Amino acid sequence: MGVPLFDTTTPLRPLRAELDAAIARVIDSGTYILGPEVAAFESEFAAYCGAGHAVGVANGTEALTIALRALGVGPGDEVVVPSFTFYASAEAIPPTGARPVFCDVDPDTMCVTAQTVAAALTPRTKAVIAVHLFGNVAQVAEIAALGVPVIEDAAQAAGSRSAAGRPGALGTIATFSFFPSKNLGAFGDGGAITTGDDALADRVRMLRFHGSWDKVTYEHVGYNSRLDELQAAILRVQLPHLDAWADGRRAAGRHYADAGLAEFARLPVPIEGCDPAWHLYVVRSGQADDLAATLAGAGHGQKAYYRTPVHRQAAMLEYAGDVDLPATDELARTHLAIPMSPVLSAQMAGQVVAALRGAPVGAPSA
Ligand SMILES: Cc1ncc(COP(=O)(O)O)c(C=O)c1O
Repeated sequence: MGVPLFDTTTPLRPLRAELDAAIARVIDSGTYILGPEVAAFESEFAAYCGAGHAVGVANGTEALTIALRALGVGPGDEVVVPSFTFYASAEAIPPTGARPVFCDVDPDTMCVTAQTVAAALTPRTKAVIAVHLFGNVAQVAEIAALGVPVIEDAAQAAGSRSAAGRPGALGTIATFSFFPSKNLGAFGDGGAITTGDDALADRVRMLRFHGSWDKVTYEHVGYNSRLDELQAAILRVQLPHLDAWADGRRAAGRHYADAGLAEFARLPVPIEGCDPAWHLYVVRSGQADDLAATLAGAGHGQKAYYRTPVHRQAAMLEYAGDVDLPATDELARTHLAIPMSPVLSAQMAGQVVAALRGAPVGAPSA
């Protein structure tokens, strides 16, 4: 049997009774929206991240739009965002009235840097979205030193650590997705916004509930964007296990290295001072499509998530202009995600590498 691209069920198997009890507790409570489970999850998740506040929202995309709105981003403003990311990082910007301005990434860590962001700044820049891509942790302090508020897009980085702290506590405000395949995944859509700023947290709470402070009068056009009680109860069961799962993801990366994966592709590079909880394990090769075909032939999971980078997607062409992002274009061509999960064993990593070793493709150059 092949190794799947990700495995969301095996890590949850030992938690089944606890999950069943949490779901039953919500059903019996009769409270399904903004009740005690969401409140408890928000304080537990804020404590985990080391952030002053966490606010549950409906998904990671709306988390970004709401975070931008809370920062006062609107028509006439620009927001710098990488193009080598999931589409939603940029898609969340136009609903605020602002324009995405695409920046490049570092070719080794695949994340934005102060240099790539600086190249995209203009007097209209109101915020920067620093994506902690694939579980790596972008160097937020260096980017913030450019003088623009940083929104961490931490959708892929729950469980990661950096010398400066955890994702969620590094920028002005941060956003998370609890999409089921994420490092901390709900049984449906979910998201959160974290911040250490009391006023920003208040604005986020107001915006997620139709732009109302008192839930009776409406001063702002907001959103109906809430994490629901069932998802919060499910996430509360999982949160205490996130660090152990992150250790499992890091161990899986080591298993690949031990099995000799570097003979066939360039391995992902952790940012200095960072302990990534690899969300996706993304290697690089000049023959990425051949590697993908080999792995598929052996029944193993693989996927080129961002073959067309965001600035080349049809919906974004009006914002992209003639921006030149050489590292992004190169990564788009050469990246490939291979199986990763908290339970990916040395034996599984060995199977994946053995499939490459047995392939007719020569040693690919990145
Ligand atoms: C980097 C990144 N940003 C934003 C999102 C959007 O999150 P959601 O799917 O919960 O809307 C995702 C994941 O889907 C993501 O990977």
